[in-house]
Amino acid sequence: MANLAVEQRKRVTVLFSGRGSNMETLIKASLADDYPAIITHAITNRPNAGGIEIAKNYNVETSIFDHKAFDSREAHEEVLRAELERQNPDIIVLAGYMRIFNESFVKHFPGKMLNIHPSLLPKFKGVDTHNRAIEAGEKTHGCSVHFVDASLDGGPIVAQASVPVKQDDTADTLSDRVLVQEHLLYPKALELVASEMVTHQNGEIKVSPEFDKTSTNFIIAP
Ligand code: GRF
Repeated sequence: MANLAVEQRKRVTVLFSGRGSNMETLIKASLADDYPAIITHAITNRPNAGGIEIAKNYNVETSIFDHKAFDSREAHEEVLRAELERQNPDIIVLAGYMRIFNESFVKHFPGKMLNIHPSLLPKFKGVDTHNRAIEAGEKTHGCSVHFVDASLDGGPIVAQASVPVKQDDTADTLSDRVLVQEHLLYPKALELVASEMVTHQNGEIKVSPEFDKTSTNFIIAP
């Protein structure tokens, strides 16, 4: 693909709460000259998050808004919203951001927010997905990138990657296998959204006719 000038690339802010491995794969992908997005900022709600060091290593400006320092969810979100409005990203990417947003916050950024969830949505919304998949006797598990709406892990799905569940899997072994796929899936899904090959209009996902779904092993807009 052709090199893209900075002005042609979508500006992205990543929100994270923990080790930041998904953020790192997104930053790495965005270092390619033809990648349609640049990670300009990162924000975390945890002052001790491992991802802070990662963002620093790549010179991504990082803000910390510790939710524990605020009296209410609303007060925390107000500060977060103000900072996001100042940064004015084209896309907000949640990468292991372990906070649920109020509807009013989500409505401020319609069609702009992506999340990665470690299950084949709509199965296993919420937490503890790997354990729950094993206990339910699933043969296949995986991860999904979706647009964020006011429902929990419920917005329209951009792309999914699946892995087999093995008979001797524990939540840890399964989670490791899914994480490998997360690191491949998220950069691809962000690329599709940033290049507008996949768009979100009024709750509906549209895939551009220019994009050949068979060009990837991921499940696109199921
Ligand atoms: C990932 O498994 C992601 O799917 C989930 O939280 C985890 C974050 O991991 N939402 P990391 O911080 O990106 O390493």
